[in-house]
Amino acid sequence: MKSLFTGVLVLLSASVNVALSQGTSVLASNAAPVDVQAPLLPFYRDVKTSRGYKYHYYFSAATAGKPTLLLVHGFPSLSVDWYRQIAYFKKKGYGLVVPDGLGYGGTDKPEEASVYVHSLLAKDLVDILDHEKVANVLAIGHDWGATTASSLANLHADRFLGFGFLAVGYQAPNTNLTYEQILESNAKLLGYENFGYWKFFSSPDADRIIRGHLQSFWDVIWAKHPSIWRFSFSPTGAFQSFLESDSKTPRASYFKELEPIYNKVFGQNGFKAAVNFYTIQTNGDDQEDDKNVPLENYTIKKPVFFGAATQDLVAVSSLQIAVTKQFCLNSTIQKFNASHWVHHELPDEVNTALDNWIRTVVA
Ligand SMILES: *[C@@H]1O[C@H](CO)[C@@H](O)[C@H](O)[C@H]1NC(C)=O
Ligand SMILES: *[C@@H]1O[C@H](CO)[C@@H](O)[C@H](O)[C@H]1NC(C)=O
Ligand SMILES: *[C@@H]1O[C@H](CO)[C@@H](O)[C@H](O)[C@H]1NC(C)=O
Ligand SMILES: *[C@@H]1O[C@H](CO)[C@@H](O)[C@H](O)[C@H]1NC(C)=O
Repeated sequence: MKSLFTGVLVLLSASVNVALSQGTSVLASNAAPVDVQAPLLPFYRDVKTSRGYKYHYYFSAATAGKPTLLLVHGFPSLSVDWYRQIAYFKKKGYGLVVPDGLGYGGTDKPEEASVYVHSLLAKDLVDILDHEKVANVLAIGHDWGATTASSLANLHADRFLGFGFLAVGYQAPNTNLTYEQILESNAKLLGYENFGYWKFFSSPDADRIIRGHLQSFWDVIWAKHPSIWRFSFSPTGAFQSFLESDSKTPRASYFKELEPIYNKVFGQNGFKAAVNFYTIQTNGDDQEDDKNVPLENYTIKKPVFFGAATQDLVAVSSLQIAVTKQFCLNSTIQKFNASHWVHHELPDEVNTALDNWIRTVVA
């Protein structure tokens, strides 16, 4: 009897296991996403830069002979935005310095716009590198992080082996075109206002409106369909209307892991500091700042990589490629059939392309 019972129990428990594992796989699509931030947390450090701001950054040292990557995120992101790159490059022995940008996450969040000009952000980043005493550094920026990386190339080229840009290419200094002039000339070229949302982001109400409609905000920022940006994001007034009517649109699957982190961090901190990246464009502070760059430093002689995102309807890849080619004497340009979040949408392709380029730089 005993052995019979045991047999039955084994069978029962086997079928329970099957049921459980089926249940788990059914549940998986609705289950809590993997916590992509937890493995990074032990590696964070803080430092005060020379102008007195505390920066919070991920750091891991390079193994012998490997370069270090400075990964610079844009709007509205956090250092964790790079988790797919951190995992890939860390395993290969690259050093990594990955800050929360000024205005974001664990870094200071001053509300005064003028402190966000890119020459000052660039100096902050150099301060972090100096503090960590890292040599052989490549700066890689996405979105506004690409603009800061451009400033590093203009003002601190000697500190770097090369510069990488994702979705947004090299940005040559602009000392004389106003936001309105850029908006108008791009609209003539493209047939739509690709930067119309800058006016909304730099308005005093932006933080309140975005926070009040945060789920609609993420819907568009991380839209599954890149075409949404042309109609519901970029034209003047369109994004504010989308938010205020609590409109919905499906999100890209690759946002799933970041979503709980972004809800928590931006829910707490809001956007008042972060939207200053737009305010300095529309109020002229950034154009004034660009006057610090001597004309001869507009041209970039160090190796440059640009990963263009051909489905990005805001940072339009053909325009980004043209400027990068014009000013960067030694550029490697690779097109990805992806939206703005190219390093999330095609992480394997982007990581491999960057890695291959970096190998040519350090060879
Ligand atoms: C211009 O570039 C050179 C070489 O990269 C650099 O030494 C110099 O400091 C730059 N000029 C300014 C004003 O930053
Ligand atoms: C704008 O500035 C660029 C260099 O910064 C210069 O080449 C161009 O001539 C200027 N255009 C005007 C209209 O001043
Ligand atoms: C780019 O990807 C989209 C799907 O996201 C596809 O419809 C399109 O055919 C692709 N284009 C090219 C040139 O591969
Ligand atoms: C251009 O950059 C590559 C690295 O990507 C390097 O191997 C090559 O020597 C550079 N060419 C010149 C002319 O500096």
